[in-house]
Amino acid sequence: MSKAFDVVVIGGGPGGYVAAIRAAQNGLKTACVDNWSNRDGSHAFGGTCLNAGCIPSKAMLESSELYYRAGHEFDHHGIKVGKPGLDLATMLERKAGITKQFTGGITQLFKANKIEGIPGTGRLLKDGKVEVTPAGGGTAEQLEARHVILATGSTPVELPFARFDGKRIVDSWDALEFDEVPKRLGVIGAGVIGLEMGSVWSRLGSEVTMIEAQDQFLFMADQQIAKDALRQFKNQGLDIKLGAKLVDAKAGGNDVSIVYEDKQGKHEATFDKLLVSVGRRPYTEGLLEDGCGVEIDARGFITVDDENRTGRRNVWAVGDCVRGLMLAHKASEEGVVVADLIAGKTAEMNHDAIPSIIYTAPEVAWVGKTEEQLKDADVPYKTGSFGFAANGRAQAMNQASGMVKMLAHQESDEILGVHIVGPMASELIAEAVMALEFRASAEDVQLTIHAHPALAEVTHEAALAVDKKAIHGVNR
Ligand code: FAD
Ligand code: NAI
Repeated sequence: MSKAFDVVVIGGGPGGYVAAIRAAQNGLKTACVDNWSNRDGSHAFGGTCLNAGCIPSKAMLESSELYYRAGHEFDHHGIKVGKPGLDLATMLERKAGITKQFTGGITQLFKANKIEGIPGTGRLLKDGKVEVTPAGGGTAEQLEARHVILATGSTPVELPFARFDGKRIVDSWDALEFDEVPKRLGVIGAGVIGLEMGSVWSRLGSEVTMIEAQDQFLFMADQQIAKDALRQFKNQGLDIKLGAKLVDAKAGGNDVSIVYEDKQGKHEATFDKLLVSVGRRPYTEGLLEDGCGVEIDARGFITVDDENRTGRRNVWAVGDCVRGLMLAHKASEEGVVVADLIAGKTAEMNHDAIPSIIYTAPEVAWVGKTEEQLKDADVPYKTGSFGFAANGRAQAMNQASGMVKMLAHQESDEILGVHIVGPMASELIAEAVMALEFRASAEDVQLTIHAHPALAEVTHEAALAVDKKAIHGVNR
């Protein structure tokens, strides 16, 4: 006899495990089937984000940043430590420890919420049941479900002429595990992964060359912010080549040679490792039995409506496997909304107030519309920006570069976008997200008291600058 649940979630990443927890909180009998496999073959809940994405990358970014500062900035503070030594093995161990702590935490949360966590591969059958093939092999079983949530995530895009081999031509997971610092690291794609992983290894000593197909740096970001960020990254020694496309790559025993093409023609380069980070694609291999009623669009995403319903009744899909930003917090919020809708509650999600963050140094963060998007849409707007250079806290931190830029509607004063390049932009953006969520005006932020000295004062001054009322800068 097959087991019966109110909700079966397929995929245990931030979309799936959060949906499972909220479903259980709503009193629904819930199972979560997940087939993540670590390098040693072990299973862990948490998906890409916890096992090979958000969490381990942030651990390496933090460690590498401290190493870099110890070598380059401590002198300036009057701290003499000499040349810092690198113990990469300990750094990697620390990262692995954090990952384990968090993935283990999900298992505990599942137990506490009485969720059945099932390591295995799930498949939606024509009759609506979920077939589970256990992780370690063995006989498949079938689960009955009143509702199914598909949350199978994404996987790196592979270029046909630069196949991942795990040694020389690698994806972001491999690039979190290098056991020695590559002398020369090539990075294809100067997007979020390229910049974060490029920064890690550059700080630890690699010569990093980035090949980016677009002429514009960070084309999805506000271009004033992107230009400032590009200048700072280049000053740090990242060699970022724009308008350059990889056309060939050949891995040898000790290195990898590539050919890339830009307006000047073809060029060759050789690296010790080549990270290919040209985007991720939805992962749905083997998930859907023919005729199960769930559709996949031309780009491979599961087709869903605004409330994440697929074409089949009582089957939902969330996270990287559906349209929208491929971000953990977007996946989780969709999971919460779907679990609430299943429980008959009212729930919706504001896709216009999802923050994007690049955890480089300085960090880049934004929410809402860019200036370019407002211009294209003919929306009348006013803008104010303020630099970290005039901020006492940023100076005390020796990180007084970058700016906050605010865009507000010319007539209504509603904040339409906030863009930051600077220290702790990942934390500062939360105030801006709240402002957009509550449809605040620039004046609302102007009238909000910000503590002194704090980095958030730069957001306050940017709001004041929208109406040419900044106090600690010249209003133009
Ligand atoms: P996933 O996390 O990919 O989880 C899907 C799970 O489903 C996996 O465990 C997979 O094994 C499992 N699965 C797939 N098919 C099946 C099946 N048939 N049966 C059972 N299980 C299945 N986002 C951020 O917001 N912030 C960050 O800082 C950030 N950093 C990142 C750094 C890197 C290097 C990478 C690669 C990504 C990063 N992301 C970040 C993106 C983030 O990881 C994803 O947006 C997020 O993990 C998506 O969650 P998800 O639940 O949709 O999918
Ligand atoms: P991305 O979309 O951010 O960047 C890919 C880059 O590669 C683009 O700039 C693109 O123009 C370029 N490109 C594509 N084909 C190319 C080619 N043939 N040659 C040269 N350049 C080429 O994708 P990325 O960095 O792989 O990350 C995938 C996703 O993972 C991100 O979109 C993001 O959603 C998520 N992520 C989020 C993080 C965060 O929130 N901090 C961190 C890391 C990943």
